[in-house]
Amino acid sequence: MKPPRKLHIKSYGCQMNVYDAQRMVDTLAGEGFIETKSVDDADLVILNTCHIREKASEKVYSELGRLRVAKHDAARAGRDMRIAVAGCVAQAEGEEIIRRAPAVDVVVGPQSYHHLPELLKRAGTHGRAIETEFPAEDKFTFLPQPRREAIRARGISAFVTVQEGCDKFCTFCVVPYTRGAEVSRPVARIIEDVKQLADNGVREITLIGQNVNAYHGEGPDGSTWPLGKLLHRLAEIRGIVRLRYSTSHPRDVDDSLIEAHRDLPALMPLVHLPVQSGSDRILSAMNRKHTVAEYRKAIDRFRAVRQDIAFSSDFIVGFPGEREEDFLATLALVTQIGYAAAYSFKYSPRPGTPAAEMQETVSAADMDERLVRLQELIDRQQSAFNVAAIGTTVDVLFERAARNVGQIVGRTAYLQPAHVMASSDIIGEVRPVRIDSLERYSLLGELVSPAPAIRPALSETNIGA
Ligand code: 5AD
Ligand code: SF4
Repeated sequence: MKPPRKLHIKSYGCQMNVYDAQRMVDTLAGEGFIETKSVDDADLVILNTCHIREKASEKVYSELGRLRVAKHDAARAGRDMRIAVAGCVAQAEGEEIIRRAPAVDVVVGPQSYHHLPELLKRAGTHGRAIETEFPAEDKFTFLPQPRREAIRARGISAFVTVQEGCDKFCTFCVVPYTRGAEVSRPVARIIEDVKQLADNGVREITLIGQNVNAYHGEGPDGSTWPLGKLLHRLAEIRGIVRLRYSTSHPRDVDDSLIEAHRDLPALMPLVHLPVQSGSDRILSAMNRKHTVAEYRKAIDRFRAVRQDIAFSSDFIVGFPGEREEDFLATLALVTQIGYAAAYSFKYSPRPGTPAAEMQETVSAADMDERLVRLQELIDRQQSAFNVAAIGTTVDVLFERAARNVGQIVGRTAYLQPAHVMASSDIIGEVRPVRIDSLERYSLLGELVSPAPAIRPALSETNIGA
């Protein structure tokens, strides 16, 4: 028997890349590859790249410089190391990668991961292989089911892609070009994946998609299901105690989603709802397709059905044409909403997007200054949100042993890490924890009762499927 070949995969960017990386590992397991944590002993290194901002995509070329040396060292030791570039930089700059980085053997866009084995073979015989087309067939139909051992290794919380691509065309964003048009997976396939994950110990599922609440998959009855209906169905699967979804667009908040938050205790009360700016003038230039008032209305609809709901968001500062008064409107919106967490970025012009052609650019100094002001405000809100947990009792889903011996770490409904001293038996369970203190972003507390409050497989919301 041939010894297994070793695969090292490094992912940048969003959760979908993390998910895709797992699917590439599953695909290549069928070809005799096993994962390794080190680049040095790898037979195949895959960089799963992100193109969302310039900084993210430039990282690829510096990493490829390092890999060229590793490949050279491997060759001197008589080993053949292959290098593949996957993800959105591969999609957007495939030809340029081939030109700039001679060490790269394979370039593969996000829609073609099921072709990886074939591309590697082609690169073996013909030198180099590149595939950045959007194939007619849906890759999900061809990607293998995750292997049991692989799922176990993934632990308590897992991502499942339900939707990919985006038709919104915000003027700053590369996603509609790199991930293509919106495609939703059929309900039956998602149920199958979630059941398999649950059977292997996964307790929390995060449904992911670039525009996840635009989900419109084919239901078992042939009708089109919105995200809320899908969530209702997944909440019935035995073993699943927590559901989340990300990332949502304010325009696609529909009745089904609001009803899901009203009806499903398993659906966690934290919604990532990016707004990008608090100025209608800038939202319009961004082609966001919603106003500030519409965004606030969407927030109010969630709040009306779940008082404990919290929000996170994304912001861009320094979009072309952003004046001080627009930025002040963003600060005002953040103050009004009060976020549990938020990500803020300096605008980065992306080649091929409409905003990259806009003339009225904001100076680097203004961008830096605005970013600092916004991040200070967000940090204050996040700290206040975390401090408010001290002295309360909250449900924590325990995930793994912490670095400190004897401590087990899990997450609250709001994704705050929470540490307790306990036996590892509680991993996979939701337990009430009294929060005593806060250390940076982590909550520290004690289990409230020695007996499990909720046994996942027996919880009332999980009626079995
Ligand atoms: N420049 C800066 N930030 C961007 N984002 C997307 N495109 C750009 C860009 N060109 C941010 C948005 C988005 C998040 C994933 O990344 O805030 O919601
Ligand atoms: Fe990009 Fe806008 Fe689509 Fe989000 S909604 S992925 S920001 S184009």
